[in-house]
Amino acid sequence: MPEIKVSASILSADFSCLNKALERCQASGVDSLHMDIMDGHFVPNISFGPVVIKWLRPLTKLPMDAHLMIENPGWYIEEFAKSGADIITVHAECFGKLKAHCDGLGKFPKEIESLDEARLLSVIKQIKSVGKKAGLAFNPGSPMCATDKILQELDEITIMSVNPGFSGQGFMPEALPKISQLRQIFKGDIRVDGGINDKTAPEAIKAGANILVTASYFFGSKDPVKAVQILKSATETQSSQRN
Ligand code: DX5
Ligand code: ZN
Repeated sequence: MPEIKVSASILSADFSCLNKALERCQASGVDSLHMDIMDGHFVPNISFGPVVIKWLRPLTKLPMDAHLMIENPGWYIEEFAKSGADIITVHAECFGKLKAHCDGLGKFPKEIESLDEARLLSVIKQIKSVGKKAGLAFNPGSPMCATDKILQELDEITIMSVNPGFSGQGFMPEALPKISQLRQIFKGDIRVDGGINDKTAPEAIKAGANILVTASYFFGSKDPVKAVQILKSATETQSSQRN
């Protein structure tokens, strides 16, 4: 079983003192920082851009992953690479045939029927050409439709367990079979993102995820060291004891 890693999303941090948020992350033993980048087009919310990564980069050695919830992510790869992100994750929904109900401005959540492999591969290559690790994310309503050709180019895959846009939402259990299915064919890191807490982490790990993203559970905890420990040691046994 791979080591379980915890990735703290600063989306739930107090943005008036991000350096304090970083200290909290470092002191509590999280493995990386998850940067939720939102453009108000791919998702119904706007967060922040590469400038925040740029200013935080010199303040910590923790790896940073940029979760790009933006349209046309290919336009911004260099910018995020320059800012200091170590992993750049783009969304499958930006590279495929959208389902009819979400095809158009202001229609969410974005979900695809199929992937345009050539366009996606070219952006994955772009990410690698700037020396960064490449990730691909799937929204809850999109099938895990990456072929072997795509899978072998990726360092990690994110299975969204909420519709992207906001922290603090409830975990969608539909993510679990998707994670299990993916774990059978993908040896790289599987990140699960959305609604992770002491109750949902065991299920996600059991299904095969090895990186747990957390915003509200981690930043809402009075004891962040314990919160990270709980997530890292979450097992099926703990889960069934609680139920
Ligand atoms: C949602 C983001 C998530 C979010 C997680 O669009 O991609 O990373 O910040 O927040 P919690 O852990 O509160 O569900
Ligand atoms: Zn995220």
